[in-house]
Amino acid sequence: MSDLASLEQRALTQLTASADEAALRDWHTQYFGKQGEILLAVKKVGEVPPAERRAYGQEANRIKECLTQAYEKALAAEHEKKLARDLQSDALDVTLPGRPARVGRLHVATRDMRRITAIFADMGFQVYRSREVEDDLTNFELLNMPPHHPARDMWDTFHTTTGGVLLRTHTSPGQIHIMRECCPKPIRVILPGMCYRYEAITTRSEIMFQQVEGLAVGEKVSMTDLKGTIIAFARRLFGKDRTVRIRSSYFPFTEPSIEVDMDCLVCAGKGCGLCKGTGWLEIMGAGMVHPIVLKNGGYDPSRTSGFAFGMGIQRISMLQYGIDDIRYFWANDLRFLSQF
Ligand code: PHE
Repeated sequence: MSDLASLEQRALTQLTASADEAALRDWHTQYFGKQGEILLAVKKVGEVPPAERRAYGQEANRIKECLTQAYEKALAAEHEKKLARDLQSDALDVTLPGRPARVGRLHVATRDMRRITAIFADMGFQVYRSREVEDDLTNFELLNMPPHHPARDMWDTFHTTTGGVLLRTHTSPGQIHIMRECCPKPIRVILPGMCYRYEAITTRSEIMFQQVEGLAVGEKVSMTDLKGTIIAFARRLFGKDRTVRIRSSYFPFTEPSIEVDMDCLVCAGKGCGLCKGTGWLEIMGAGMVHPIVLKNGGYDPSRTSGFAFGMGIQRISMLQYGIDDIRYFWANDLRFLSQF
């Protein structure tokens, strides 16, 4: 019993003398560790004569409890002291200006896509979202390109391992979906979205890029409507002095087909580096919807006509900002993206 009393005394004195958290932890190991003195003292109960055993055991447990509490109190007090010290030495000046949060932004492609859809919305075009995974039928056949038609070579295609399922090479298959949904009502929509082509990646071509397709179908829709729509669009996006020119072209799903150039932004037609001396920049392919395509969409080509156009909007952004490499768009380089 006297051993217990002196153990308690010694432990308490040493605890009060422990100056910091490390000393407290050492103390704890010394008394409560696996070989700790308290544990050993409790174990000793077996050596005590049976008559005193009960009293010894009770006293040993009381000391264990008491020292545990003293240790926890000392540790808590030490934490308080440390906090007070830290607050003193690391004083926080809440009147200093805060650090501004870094604000994100839209990707340049998203922003330009929204600008373009807003312009067409002003002209009464609704947005129709069409699927990116298409079937051969809709991407080609219903657009007047039967299997083995040589015009299919205009679009190098990613085929999936499921026969007849592919990634759309252009937004034009959306024409079929919207026509079949709306027939026989008139249509005035744009179809924006990602397209995929199995092409060599260069400064001018990527394997994925966004297009905006336009489609108007109804009675007496004419080439003049197409031209007026394109000019109005070009002027809204590129400035009121823009003019366009039309060259004849070929697409299987339009007849006649055209390609649309806009006078060069930089030199206004005189010829410069951007337009490679021609004075013109190509902005889209377009034409009058082919009678076979109208029929495939459910419309009667003898009573209904339509125009369609399609443009790659990364190319448009490149013209607008003088971006000389299309690969920047999906390269996730902040040095590029944060300029917009
Ligand atoms: N789909 C064509 C392309 O990707 C563009 C186009 C759309 C041409 C609509 C005419 C009419 O090249």
